[in-house]
Amino acid sequence: MTAQHPGNPIFDLRNLAFRETPSHNDPEKVRTIVEATGFFSDEELEISVELVRERLLLGIDSGYYFLFAEDNKGKLVGYTCYGPVTGTQSSFDLYWIVVDNDYQGYGIGKLLDGKTAGLVREMGGTRLYAETSSKKQYDPTRAFYRKTGYHEAAFLEDFYAPGDGKVIFVKRIA
Ligand SMILES: CC(C)(COP(=O)(O)OP(=O)(O)OC[C@H]1O[C@@H](n2cnc3c(N)ncnc32)[C@H](O)[C@@H]1OP(=O)(O)O)[C@@H](O)C(=O)NCCC(=O)NCCS
Repeated sequence: MTAQHPGNPIFDLRNLAFRETPSHNDPEKVRTIVEATGFFSDEELEISVELVRERLLLGIDSGYYFLFAEDNKGKLVGYTCYGPVTGTQSSFDLYWIVVDNDYQGYGIGKLLDGKTAGLVREMGGTRLYAETSSKKQYDPTRAFYRKTGYHEAAFLEDFYAPGDGKVIFVKRIA
């Protein structure tokens, strides 16, 4: 699929390269795209960066797995961070899925999610969980999860703050 964005040259999804192993400059690349979304608090931003650092330090013992999508110039355009839920047989959490602002709406998120689900399946996973806020700001995020095969499994009222609940989505992948 080819898509054109005012801020971008013609972008072809077939030119995306996917990579699972983080490299030393990924923490800052992740910081850049996560921060630019404007979706996350400073604390959440630091957590997103910290998870990459922890993976670099501890390898897969960290429990954090990544899938990075880069364009043909090596620019990070999106990524997922996921991992097995401790104490469960085959449940996995999708901790982060982020697509660079300039590249949103072209199918990259769906592709990342689908490939991540495939990797989780290869690791024996059967369920993929994603959590998000019930605030209006996250309407697009919830719409994205519904469009990519997740359904709302639970709602925890006032979880993050009064008036800001947690919505837990789940996707059956095996
Ligand atoms: C959520 C996010 C990852 C989606 O990535 P994306 O590349 O823009 O999404 P895609 O283009 O692959 O869209 C996949 C589907 O979701 C739908 N969707 C995506 N954004 C949407 C929006 N804002 N409103 C309604 N539907 C939306 C698309 O219409 C598409 O449906 P289709 O397959 O029927 O055409 C991306 O917008 C993002 O990074 N947002 C900010 C960070 C965030 O909220 N992350 C999730 C919590 S960690």
